Amino acid sequence: MLTNFNAMLRDAYTSGYAVGSFNVYNYETMRGVVDAAKAAGVSSVIVAFGAKYLANMSLNDAKALAQSLSDGAGLPVCLHLDHCKDINTVYAAIRAGFGSVMYDGSALVYEQNAANTRRVCEVAHACGVSVEAELGSLAAGLESHEGSADDKEVYTDPEAARQFVETTGVDALAVSVGTVHGLYKGEPNIRLDILERINAACGIPLVLHGGSGIPEETIKACIARGISKINVNTEISSYAVKRSKEDLSAEKLPHLSVLAKNQQGYVAEVVRKYIDFFGGK
Ligand code: 13P
Repeated sequence: MLTNFNAMLRDAYTSGYAVGSFNVYNYETMRGVVDAAKAAGVSSVIVAFGAKYLANMSLNDAKALAQSLSDGAGLPVCLHLDHCKDINTVYAAIRAGFGSVMYDGSALVYEQNAANTRRVCEVAHACGVSVEAELGSLAAGLESHEGSADDKEVYTDPEAARQFVETTGVDALAVSVGTVHGLYKGEPNIRLDILERINAACGIPLVLHGGSGIPEETIKACIARGISKINVNTEISSYAVKRSKEDLSAEKLPHLSVLAKNQQGYVAEVVRKYIDFFGGK
């Protein structure tokens, strides 16, 4: 069954765990995520299809695949549109049957971001679709596949976040508190103090982007301060590519079907590690 993320994130928010949101762009990644979630015994999972992966797969194909994998596994799945700056693509995802959308107006001035997010919420909510928006901005780390290399870190302001949530009616808010998209150059410096103030001001599920490479204790500290959805992309790709490279350096090159099957397992390994960190049920 495909679903939106409202019930999942509300339960996570009140019970103190986070739902994993893992980036997918083909059969292997989607299958790896669903297999790992099923094996971990969690009650649901989010497969996040970023608008930037439209070159890999259409919205309708992503929907059909997510539906089939969810039904086959007997696991509720939220098919989520990740990072989308284009409102028409957001509407196309809603029409295609996505359960949630991230309208990303974080590069716009506050007023424009809030006005666009509000418009998206009105349409999405009328269709039973959940909405995530972002306030503040993440920097880019190593091997980042989101945003651009010159993205600057701008922490989310707690009072602006409170106003934004109230004005837009958004279901979940992505915040910037020191995580980066991609891998960390050193130890991540997460501003738990800011996160705590945002949580107290907003009272809705918060989203942590840039999940790759955050240590387990830091993840747990973020969950204790309102983070209910955590996004992971880079580490899944880096690990699967590294292992695929090993497969391809064997004396006898593998058949493409074998390489693809192995990749499902590599994706599932990383996803399982994070699901265990997130403490889901
Ligand atoms: P990472 O690539 O750092 O895991 O971040 C993923 C993300 O935030 C997707 O929206």
